[in-house]
Amino acid sequence: MSVEDLQQQFVAAMNAASTSADLKALRDDFLGRKQGRVTALVKSIASAPPDERRALGAGANALKQLIENALTVREAEALAAAPPKDALDVTLPARQPWMGRRHPLTQVQERVEDIFMAMGYQVIEGPEIEDDWHNFEALNMPAEHPARDMQDTLYLSSPVPVPDGGRAATLLRTHTSGMQIRYMEHHEPPVRIIAPGRVYRRDSFDATHTPMFTQIEGLVVDEGISLGDLKGTLNTFAEAFFEARVATRFRPSFFPYTEPSAELDVECQGCSGRGCPLCKQTGWIEVLGCGMVHPAVFEAVGYDANRYTGFAFGVGIERLALRLYGVDDIRMFYENDLRFLQQVAL
Ligand code: DAH
Repeated sequence: MSVEDLQQQFVAAMNAASTSADLKALRDDFLGRKQGRVTALVKSIASAPPDERRALGAGANALKQLIENALTVREAEALAAAPPKDALDVTLPARQPWMGRRHPLTQVQERVEDIFMAMGYQVIEGPEIEDDWHNFEALNMPAEHPARDMQDTLYLSSPVPVPDGGRAATLLRTHTSGMQIRYMEHHEPPVRIIAPGRVYRRDSFDATHTPMFTQIEGLVVDEGISLGDLKGTLNTFAEAFFEARVATRFRPSFFPYTEPSAELDVECQGCSGRGCPLCKQTGWIEVLGCGMVHPAVFEAVGYDANRYTGFAFGVGIERLALRLYGVDDIRMFYENDLRFLQQVAL
């Protein structure tokens, strides 16, 4: 058979082929090592008359190359048009997209905010750089007042402008209680606010202390607000926060800006009040400071202390978070180790 005839046969066969299987059969038929038609042609060269061998060889090789090229192109096209079934396993579980989430302290803060917002409180924020008046003086802590020693204060070496400030030294606020003053200076009663934010103290950095932490201040002022309102509100908060009927107790305490003052303890969740390392064997966990607003505070902001009464409280967010998640080292919240952060979720 001549090279030309074989080429025509190939072209006809190739036009008839469409699938990958067709093309594979075609390849075997023409280029197969044992039975292939081109292979046979090449083998026949040896028995051709010597003067034809050269032309025959060149023609056969050219045909072989042409077939090879044509098949390669068509095979690629066929594969693209109909990929083999096992190329993509649609039964594999989908890859989980990685989701960021809010920091545990943010989650606890928002949980507290939600509880109070549901009770009609407004959320306000204020400056972390504070002046002496809002942080101390107006809260019934004049200069030399011994209660100032309760908090080791970080003062700024040169005064910095503070909203409504300029009175004496500037400092990093040691508590959010100054927000009571800031709000009352600009609003008349009734008052029902909470004020979350960072506070700073000259403290060590260990398992139970950090020089920066987070508080939420609360303030309610109106005619006829009583200690009963304070207890009812904070009991409601404790139950909503710990999602249980928790036992609470109000323990007498002292703060210059409240009279009477108390600390709210909640029955230890770890041992149901029996005593464990978490509650230092007392059965109770200290949750917040609170009290009835001192008349001197009302005087400082120009409220009529004969007409209005109110209560205030201050909650430490880190402390709540430690209890809620059963974490025993406060530093875990600041190291931002993703293995920790991903574990603690509400
Ligand atoms: N300011 C207090 C603290 O830093 C917490 C506090 C106690 C806030 C009693 C109050 C309060 O509003 O009435 O520990």
